[in-house]
Amino acid sequence: METIVAKGFKLPAVGLGTWTLQGRECARLVEQAIRAGYRHIDTAQMYQNERAVGDGVRASGKRNEVLVVTKVQPTMLAPHDLVRSVKESLAHLRFDVIDLLLIHWPNPRVPLSESLGAMSMLKREGLVRAIGVSNFTIALLDEANRVSPEPLVCNQIECHPYLDQDKVIAACGKHGMAVVAYSPIARGQARGDAVLERIGAAHKKTAAQVCLRWLVQQGIAVVPRTSKIQRLQENLAIFNFELTDAEMKEIAGLARPGGRIVDWTYSPRWD
Ligand SMILES: NC(=O)c1ccc[n+]([C@@H]2O[C@H](COP(=O)([O-])OP(=O)(O)OC[C@H]3O[C@@H](n4cnc5c(N)ncnc54)[C@H](OP(=O)(O)O)[C@@H]3O)[C@@H](O)[C@H]2O)c1
Repeated sequence: METIVAKGFKLPAVGLGTWTLQGRECARLVEQAIRAGYRHIDTAQMYQNERAVGDGVRASGKRNEVLVVTKVQPTMLAPHDLVRSVKESLAHLRFDVIDLLLIHWPNPRVPLSESLGAMSMLKREGLVRAIGVSNFTIALLDEANRVSPEPLVCNQIECHPYLDQDKVIAACGKHGMAVVAYSPIARGQARGDAVLERIGAAHKKTAAQVCLRWLVQQGIAVVPRTSKIQRLQENLAIFNFELTDAEMKEIAGLARPGGRIVDWTYSPRWD
């Protein structure tokens, strides 16, 4: 598995997204993913599946080899709430340490310095190995990097061919942060796309694999989700082919206004 390194922290380039996966199905998929070679699992307090994710990781017998990411929900960003919620996450996961803790969405009612101060304290206490953010704009990235006592290793953002994220990706680069792409196959929309299918056929790959390869080839980590065990291997098998420069450009050309899938109005900070 290739890794992306940010500020000395290693992120396996492909992770399993777990939003919507629940209970035994979730635990089984996580276990099978790790058996198939995944070394990065993405969960969040909001997904309400940390217990199942922890069960799946333990069942794989490879806890020490797997990066598990969880995210603090926006209503839990005040320092006292944040610390309590992270201790709850640890209890649900039944882990001693969270490998990577992210702010899921910013909350304008809580100063970033306070949330990042509390996350940094958890890191210094050994409850968290690394910290980062998600859904941060360029302005928020500048502020977060200015006020965070501990280094921020990544920004997890919506990223796929239908959305031009070049500016925020460049801002992450400026701050030495990795980009982790969520909804990397555009929630399944990649399948059936004429351009992605044609490029895939030239490499004997599927449209979803082309999408994931396009991101990883730019140095971006991806966390595709699937509920199907047979797709775990497909989404991992993206390291034995390379897209040409012309193909990379053609895929980037699929970006369109309104290409965003996840509704940012969810967060009151987005105005
Ligand atoms: N930080 C955030 O705010 C945030 C927001 C959204 C998502 N995320 C994270 O990112 C993860 C992935 O994003 P996502 O779940 O929104 O979307 P996604 O991974 O782009 O797409 C998932 C959808 O694609 C289908 N799919 C998976 N592999 C496929 C393949 N090889 N060919 C065709 N279809 C395929 C899945 O269906 P099947 O189940 O039928 O395979 C599912 O419906 C989430 O699970 C979550 O962990 C984070």
